[in-house]
Amino acid sequence: MAPHFQEVVGIDISECQLEEARAVTGFNNITYRKGTAEELPFPDASVDLLTAASAAHWFDQQRFLLEAGRVLKPCGCMALLGFADNFRLHYGSCGDRLTDICDEFKKVLLPYTSTRVAVANTKLQELYTAIPFPDKERIECIPLKQQISVRNIVGFMESFSMYQALQRAEPDAATALLQRTLDRFLKEMGVTSPDTLMEVTLEYFCVLASKPE
Ligand SMILES: C[S@@+](CC[C@H](N)C(=O)[O-])C[C@H]1O[C@@H](n2cnc3c(N)ncnc32)[C@H](O)[C@@H]1O
Repeated sequence: MAPHFQEVVGIDISECQLEEARAVTGFNNITYRKGTAEELPFPDASVDLLTAASAAHWFDQQRFLLEAGRVLKPCGCMALLGFADNFRLHYGSCGDRLTDICDEFKKVLLPYTSTRVAVANTKLQELYTAIPFPDKERIECIPLKQQISVRNIVGFMESFSMYQALQRAEPDAATALLQRTLDRFLKEMGVTSPDTLMEVTLEYFCVLASKPE
């Protein structure tokens, strides 16, 4: 967004996320602040675009929508994006088996899975319905295919909130699950290097809305 706007403010409740973001330098018009989507540090009718990536399923929907209505300028836009957790892996002829390994990983994590993950998997249906602006649209499937190393797909799975919950509850079991998943990927692919590339397909969704004039 930096090249397209005079001022960009990134907000997250997590100091760790903000540290990661601040480590990316070179954009003088971006600042970061600790805060929440439900209490935004902006005056009324001052924001052109309010956007959130893979985060809106965590928000208190009613309070967030009220806050969005307050801070957006007339004709200002809201764009919320994310992805469902039905991603698929591809590598030679063993893609289905790699995807099965992911599904088994997610199954082990079911007891640790927040209901908020289900909200993301509905592609924000309820939040979309509750948006009070008449000009709105929900795009349910924007397919994205990208190359990713075995190491990084396992890193992606490690970042899941339900994996983090298991790690807090049972650190040894969590580490073993991750290692077992990495080993199974490599065995299925018939390779030894975690830097080997596979392909992942993700279904992104996007909720768009514009505040009336
Ligand atoms: C999956 S991460 C996405 C992070 C980042 N937006 C990105 O695309 O890489 C979800 C983020 O939402 C943040 N979050 C959750 N609830 C929030 C809230 N109510 N207000 C602001 N941020 C929130 C979490 O701290 C976390 O960093």
